[in-house]
Amino acid sequence: MSEIRNPTSFVIEPKFLSVQLPPFFINHPTRCCRLSSKYLYCGIELAFLWISCKNRDMRLRNIPEAKEIVANSPFVLKDAEALRGKWQAFTGGRPLYVEIGTGKGRFLMELAAREPERYFLGVERYESVLMRAVEKMEGKLPQDPASVLERAEVKESQRNGAELPEMTGIPEEAELSKAEHLLEEADLTEEKFEPPENLRFLCMDARDLPAVFAPGEVAKIFLNFSDPWPKVRHAKRRLTSRNFLAVYEEFLANGGILEFKTDNRDLFEFSVEEFDAAEHWTLTAVTRDLHADSVLGADNVMTEYERKFSALGNKICKLVAVYHNEKEE
Ligand SMILES: C[S@@+](CC[C@H](N)C(=O)[O-])C[C@H]1O[C@@H](n2cnc3c(N)ncnc32)[C@H](O)[C@@H]1O
Repeated sequence: MSEIRNPTSFVIEPKFLSVQLPPFFINHPTRCCRLSSKYLYCGIELAFLWISCKNRDMRLRNIPEAKEIVANSPFVLKDAEALRGKWQAFTGGRPLYVEIGTGKGRFLMELAAREPERYFLGVERYESVLMRAVEKMEGKLPQDPASVLERAEVKESQRNGAELPEMTGIPEEAELSKAEHLLEEADLTEEKFEPPENLRFLCMDARDLPAVFAPGEVAKIFLNFSDPWPKVRHAKRRLTSRNFLAVYEEFLANGGILEFKTDNRDLFEFSVEEFDAAEHWTLTAVTRDLHADSVLGADNVMTEYERKFSALGNKICKLVAVYHNEKEE
């Protein structure tokens, strides 16, 4: 009886082979291999997508009450579209500065307190993130046991006149978030936090901002530590991509400024190229080490991510670009 033996002497009957493999496979083995590798690749991509969604959920910690907290906060503007074309009246004639992707809002809280002659708006698309900014504005802190414990530690160290823990080397994720938390809490426990009257938030996607601002209504845009979207096919989602520059052009004033900070070098170089290639934008300042730059680094306000990544030893990059709109001249 004829038989096929593979290297491990596993016996396969030819009869069995012909029953198992469809005739198409026998006739077109190369096409079949190509097809099956395509399906395998799709499967792997889907698996990665699923894992990254799971991780993202974990990072964002979908907080069920966030929607309600954000919806009920007096610091979050509702029906902002009704203000389109009326922002000057709303801000009392003060220039409007907008941070896109504001996160937990620390940057704007400090800036707004420092510059009462300007009006600040923080735009964040996730309620679970914006909720943290709202809680800070309302003087409330998360009441989970870990945070209560950490606050007690800060109070204790302040009582003893001790410094907050200094981070050396590359801290573990847990260590890092704890230190980050301690620093945040310390900001608020030093003195009673007064929410700046010239700061409000919007919970929405930056893509939809032209429905909220009329042409020329925004004087300045801040982009701080925007998501890097490292895959080339996701480049359009980067907040410094030409697609987003076109969105900003719809509402930034002629001569308006955009400032961008990041520790992600690839995203930064991509952004410099996008501004260089854009017809209506001129780069006026670029640094790849903001904290060592005596001009751009002066009066720098740190964001949550900036603290975290500079503590890891990462250099912070910054660019400043001016928008020219000849139509408005
Ligand atoms: C990496 S975090 C940085 C947070 C903060 N700016 C900082 O520096 O600490 C980026 C934030 O931008 C927000 N974001 C990203 N794309 C956005 C978009 N299209 N519209 C509004 N927010 C966006 C994300 O939800 C996230 O909270």
